[in-house]
Amino acid sequence: MKRVAVVGFGFMGMTHTLNILQNADLELVAIVDKDPESIAKNLFSPGGNFSTGNIDPEVLQNIRKYSSLHDCLHQEDLDAVHICVHTELHYEMAKLALMHDKHVLLEKPFTLDIDQAEELIQLAEKNNRILMIAHVVRFMPPYQKLKHFIDSNEFGELKFLSMTRISGVPGWGEWTEKQVTKSSGGALFDLNIHDIDFASYVLGSPSSIKSSYLPGMLSENDYVSAMWSYSDKPVRVKIEGGNTFHSHFPFQAGYMAQFEKASVLYSSSGGDVIRIADNTSIREIPAGDAGEGYTNEIAYFANCLKNNTQPTECMAASSLESIKLCYNHL
Ligand SMILES: NC(=O)c1ccc[n+]([C@@H]2O[C@H](COP(=O)([O-])OP(=O)(O)OC[C@H]3O[C@@H](n4cnc5c(N)ncnc54)[C@H](O)[C@@H]3O)[C@@H](O)[C@H]2O)c1
Repeated sequence: MKRVAVVGFGFMGMTHTLNILQNADLELVAIVDKDPESIAKNLFSPGGNFSTGNIDPEVLQNIRKYSSLHDCLHQEDLDAVHICVHTELHYEMAKLALMHDKHVLLEKPFTLDIDQAEELIQLAEKNNRILMIAHVVRFMPPYQKLKHFIDSNEFGELKFLSMTRISGVPGWGEWTEKQVTKSSGGALFDLNIHDIDFASYVLGSPSSIKSSYLPGMLSENDYVSAMWSYSDKPVRVKIEGGNTFHSHFPFQAGYMAQFEKASVLYSSSGGDVIRIADNTSIREIPAGDAGEGYTNEIAYFANCLKNNTQPTECMAASSLESIKLCYNHL
């Protein structure tokens, strides 16, 4: 088993923890949170804009707790760390872990500073470590099915893809602190990036982007509406969504894809189904559970650790391209 630690025990830290505990190839050795008391507190009142499952409190009792990654790295013999702190800390935490020769699974967005991201990529290469960015949508079954429809040409050529992601303004954990909200990059870099990363993963980077946005509590770009076009193919992509809504507004994400022979609809608020319509009928197929994306993502990372191979999904270099693409929306 590969020995791992989770850094930052908020919404995402708990999500990683739950999935590490369920993975036979990983042993959770330690949890690091600047406020170790929040580990127990968060356990009983988890934050987040949707549920990613519950951790058995008894299981956590035997796991060592640290208030600093530095101390944890010095006292534990780890193979990898899962970094789940806020974006402003991604660079320094990932750098520290890589400098200690640990593999890293880093929450998205990579870093908002392109020079810092490039430095981390070079450091990982120099130390021959894995640096994978947790773009979970690539591992979500409903989105993997969309990729299959596109790659297989099952419904003919894709003409139009509309991806939406709507959330209330984050009202949990450190999101309520002004400094953190600002340094998140706002919805564009924190929320829309999921769809920006996925659309560029399946279709490549667009040649042109027309975008408009609205300000919110976090940034000037907390609601984004963008249309992508390509010089080498007729497909158009719409990216839309944000977190300007009130905190308890229900999270929803999904896509509409118009192919030559059928139109396909998936919405997280419409059950675990994909609807496929043509001019004569509509049918439903199972979409799979989007929440399994976290399980799949962590299993994929664990597999790379086990086999000592670099990931081909969510490589740091491709996640850096997604950051650059976000900047191209401004
Ligand atoms: N992949 C996804 O679906 C998804 C969803 C939500 C958030 N995220 C990303 O995850 C990251 C964290 O977001 P969150 O919602 O989990 O935040 P959160 O506020 O719920 O949790 C952050 C945790 O980090 C801890 N922390 C802060 N400074 C620390 C330090 N120096 N050392 C150790 N721990 C420290 C805090 O005490 C807190 O428990 C962000 O980058 C965010 O963009 C990803």
